[in-house]
Amino acid sequence: MRKHIVAGNWKMNNDLPQSELLITDLLKQNQTSDAEVMIAPTFTNLWQAFESLRQESIEVIAQNMHFAENGAYTGEISASMLKSIGVKTVILGHSERRAYFNETDESLAKKVDAALANDMRTIFCFGEELQDRKSENHEAVVESQIKNALFHLEADAFKNIVLAYEPVWAIGTGETASPEQAQDMHAFIRKTLADKYGNDVADSVSILYGGSVKPGNAKEIFGKPDVDGGLIGGAALNAEDFYAIVNAF
Ligand code: G3P
Repeated sequence: MRKHIVAGNWKMNNDLPQSELLITDLLKQNQTSDAEVMIAPTFTNLWQAFESLRQESIEVIAQNMHFAENGAYTGEISASMLKSIGVKTVILGHSERRAYFNETDESLAKKVDAALANDMRTIFCFGEELQDRKSENHEAVVESQIKNALFHLEADAFKNIVLAYEPVWAIGTGETASPEQAQDMHAFIRKTLADKYGNDVADSVSILYGGSVKPGNAKEIFGKPDVDGGLIGGAALNAEDFYAIVNAF
């Protein structure tokens, strides 16, 4: 049975007082679904979030990390540093990291390896641009992103891998992929995994959808057989909206 997961990617939002307010509001919400709930605050809020949520059922995760253990990488943070404060899960490969910070399949493969070497779970993001979708090249693009960054791994590594399909044209735009588009791509991803690693691995990996998930569309998207939850941006910054999505299963 695959895990249902809803992760809130706060991106570069919330200073420390705003983070404290949002976490206070999150703790007032009632969860009725079986979803694993995660929030990814900025690095400056990680410790405070941990302190507030230490006894709660919300996992605090990181938005990124470097592949090196340490060294001359000004401004970066390593897996072992995150692990030392209790972070167990990290988002890697987000389209904004690929677009603005030159992340490549090759550098992401090294980051995934570093996370696994530190017993951390990875939420690995990928997704096509609008022109790829319009030219019906979207499956080839997604297949390439997954194979180049993940298919060097042994099958058992996928116990610590969550996949997140985020069509770039749906992120932050209000233009959500239709539930059918999401299901079609998730089914394609699962078959790509099965072809390489077999059905047992493919059926065990949670595949999340991200891209303008809102309280009004979450239930239909999460109702699709190969959609196991969501990676949420804008709606994660409002506690009520976020839990409307968490409870959409
Ligand atoms: O990582 C999730 C994010 O990219 C989706 O953003 O605002 O479209 O929900 P949003």
